[in-house]
Amino acid sequence: MEIDRAKNAVLPILAATLLSQTTTTLRDVPLIDDVDVLLRLMKIIGARIERSGHDIMVSLPTVATFEAPYYLTSRLRASFLLAGPLLGRFGRADMAMPGGCAIGSRPVDLHLKGFEAMGARVDLTQGMIRLRSEGLRGAEIHLDYPSVGATENLLMAATLAHGTTIITGAAVEPEVVDLGSFLLAMGARIQGVGTHLLAIEGVSHVGGALFAPIPDRIEAGTYLLAGAATGGDVTVRGVVPDHLASVLAKLKEGGCEIEVNGRDIRLRAGERPLATDIRTHPYPGFPTDLQAPFMALLCRGRGRSVIVETVFESRYNHVGELRRMGAHIRVDGQTAIVEGVENLEGVEVRARDLRGAAGLTLAALTAQGESEIRGAEYLDRGYRNIEAKLASLGADIERIA
Ligand code: EPZ
Repeated sequence: MEIDRAKNAVLPILAATLLSQTTTTLRDVPLIDDVDVLLRLMKIIGARIERSGHDIMVSLPTVATFEAPYYLTSRLRASFLLAGPLLGRFGRADMAMPGGCAIGSRPVDLHLKGFEAMGARVDLTQGMIRLRSEGLRGAEIHLDYPSVGATENLLMAATLAHGTTIITGAAVEPEVVDLGSFLLAMGARIQGVGTHLLAIEGVSHVGGALFAPIPDRIEAGTYLLAGAATGGDVTVRGVVPDHLASVLAKLKEGGCEIEVNGRDIRLRAGERPLATDIRTHPYPGFPTDLQAPFMALLCRGRGRSVIVETVFESRYNHVGELRRMGAHIRVDGQTAIVEGVENLEGVEVRARDLRGAAGLTLAALTAQGESEIRGAEYLDRGYRNIEAKLASLGADIERIA
């Protein structure tokens, strides 16, 4: 099973291409809905975008509009990542308040606090965030929480600021590191990429780059979990195993056999997993994006598993649907207690967000009988060709219009 390049690296890197007026080429960009929505937004702003095969060429010679319309930003929270590059290069960005998946309030206060520290004015009017600056200045910014998006937005804005910006408490997710690598390839001056302390010395402009984003650790983890949930034997190829260290550790705790060979990971699973406790945490902790898929696995675990979701305040939309399939799950605040059962039953369920949809899909693969998943289009936001990929692993799955 070949793994695609990471959605959560491609999205900030696409936004970062707006910092340059010369052409950037991104290799092997997965054609998933979230990427499609961001490309549509970038075209509206004035970017020239060409595809050749899986490669995408982007340039933004001049801006057509600074306004990112709500009908698109409401579909994709990551569209807020356009703010940093636009503000950094042009001193202006008009972003409709972000929307996206229904997983908690997900404010952008840390982004805005950082922009203001660099001298930007922020006006919140009629659901719009209007950002203005006569030229961002380097600043010292501390992130109270290692927010992935805030780190990425501020990294991009600081790239063209006057002077040096220091960001402490920065996120260190592999996708943030990949954005840092991309900015360096464009000519940005950044120290500390991959650490919680970033120093960005502003430059007058950046050039283009030819860049291949990292493989998707969440996609890879999802397919390994599909193997674990069905007592299968699954190999994912073209990954960075280190990016999945916490996930592999938990799969081993769950009783799976894991074999790492270079950029391939092979998983073999027993009939039912062992009960395993999960606590989501910023990288290198267990990724919140695999909480729902791992919960689906633990619904048939031998015994009681305790899951604590510490990153988002409510990321349990999938619990009610798993209960419909016969799972025994009790939620108390950020904690979900899963009492494993012998079997789940195939029934009709409804997905409400991307990773919840992935969890329900894995549960359906283990259930007895046929399941129908409404809202399956959520899967297309982050998984390219998921039914073909799962079918190639032996799943009996089809999409009904
Ligand atoms: C990124 O979202 C990912 N999305 C998410 O993946 C991922 O779940 C998340 O990081 C955590 O790893 C992309 O990269 C496009 P955060 P982001 O800012 O940047 C709070 C998926 O399924 N917060 O690290 O939005 C926030 O409410 C998606 O692929 C503030 O309070 O995550 C949340 O509780 C889902 N104020 C926590 O921090 C802010 O200004 C983590 O958010 C910003 C964030």
